[in-house]
Amino acid sequence: VPPKPKNQVIIRPLRPEDGEAFLAAVRRSRALHAAWIMRKAKTRGEFARYLKRFGTDLHHGHAVVHRESGGLVGIININDVVRGNLQSGTIGYYAFAPFTGRGLMHEGMLLVLKRAFGRLKLHRLEANIQPHNRASIALAKKCGFVREGFSRRMIKMHGRWRDHERWALLAEDFKGT
Ligand SMILES: CC(C)(COP(=O)(O)OP(=O)(O)OC[C@H]1O[C@@H](n2cnc3c(N)ncnc32)[C@H](O)[C@@H]1OP(=O)(O)O)[C@@H](O)C(=O)NCCC(=O)NCCS
Repeated sequence: VPPKPKNQVIIRPLRPEDGEAFLAAVRRSRALHAAWIMRKAKTRGEFARYLKRFGTDLHHGHAVVHRESGGLVGIININDVVRGNLQSGTIGYYAFAPFTGRGLMHEGMLLVLKRAFGRLKLHRLEANIQPHNRASIALAKKCGFVREGFSRRMIKMHGRWRDHERWALLAEDFKGT
């Protein structure tokens, strides 16, 4: 059963008017993101295209917003939703400087998981994480994800096929049933 959130963040869709704040946050977080995630939108045009990805059931985007300051804490997306007999999605996430290391992404993740297994009625969420990404593994573990496997040379990032650990969380794990 997940711990009670402390209510420091909310989740909501990214909006066109978040553009400037998003681009500034991406710039501030370059060092944090470099090794671990694909290149993020760097221009207004790329941000507009990024937003267009959402809006169907295939991809669900969530901005984690700091309640007190209104700052963008990070992004948690549920991608590649498959319905039918899978009811699954792949979760991708990244925090923005200076909001890391304060438990805010953990809180945001619990809200996204609640939505994923509640309103969105998913059964399985997967997270593919590079073996040396200690922060990401710590966050996934803390949210109840279980390491199910290892896929060799799974995702091409920065020009090379990278190994990934396969972490997953089921609706019944999250709800404690
Ligand atoms: C992964 C990421 C989102 C975590 O954000 P965060 O702000 O540190 O998350 P939180 O503060 O909510 O911390 C969650 C847990 O992870 C732990 N953690 C964070 N960074 C850690 C690190 N470098 N090493 C070990 N544990 C770490 C925290 O201690 C916390 O656990 P605890 O409360 O038991 O101590 C952030 O580091 C990030 O954006 N990394 C780059 C992008 C990325 O790797 N995305 C995931 C790709 S799979």
